[in-house]
Amino acid sequence: MNGTLESASQLFEDIAQGLVQNPQILDKCDMLVCPASVHLPIVKQTRNEDHAKILIGAQTCSFQDDGAYTGEISATMLKDIGCEYVIIGHSERRIYHRESSVDIGKKVTKAHEHGLVTIICVGEKEDEREEGGAKDVVEEQLHQSMPPGSTPENTVIAYEPVWAIGTGKTATPEDVEDMHAFIREKLKEKLEDSEKVRILYGGSVKPENAADLLNIKNVDGALIGGASLSAESFLGIAKAV
Ligand code: PGA
Repeated sequence: MNGTLESASQLFEDIAQGLVQNPQILDKCDMLVCPASVHLPIVKQTRNEDHAKILIGAQTCSFQDDGAYTGEISATMLKDIGCEYVIIGHSERRIYHRESSVDIGKKVTKAHEHGLVTIICVGEKEDEREEGGAKDVVEEQLHQSMPPGSTPENTVIAYEPVWAIGTGKTATPEDVEDMHAFIREKLKEKLEDSEKVRILYGGSVKPENAADLLNIKNVDGALIGGASLSAESFLGIAKAV
């Protein structure tokens, strides 16, 4: 929940410009930006042919198609304005909007029905980790949030330990490796071709730590919050890829 129409389109333009100047980045990885919903149309308009490879997504969607759900934005609406992806179940949605994993599973179903790729966020809170329950929490979230019909093509998982989001703290490389391996194992039980599912790490990723985090086994990318508010730091992470 940051920025204005002007700053959102400027940020996109600066990121896109940086990518045009460093074309090898887009040869090596997919880049996705997920602005606030009200900024999606301006970002879409700002994206020209040179930037066509930069994907656009939203930060959440409704669990329903249409109707009397004041304030909600449906997967159909997102598709209609040109979104390709949607983040679902970010911890801030789980905490401030009390979205349960079951709610998230319903949203993912709708997003898949309308052809959006979902980035499903999972991750434990600090006390859950301290009590030794991190894997139980993540397993339960994965189980409930990934509906039947999830495939490596329509599903990306983001592991974001809640205590590492926006705090400057990152999980240790050992913890990240351990949890990503665990998620990979659990995906195997649920999906065919589970090794093709991308598992992102999120939580205080910045240019200085990106290369180390992205080098960890089963870390296939990053979900970036604070550092994506500046084109320079976002591109710094992209260069680390
Ligand atoms: P952060 O946020 O990079 O600022 O920790 C991550 C996120 O919002 O998912």
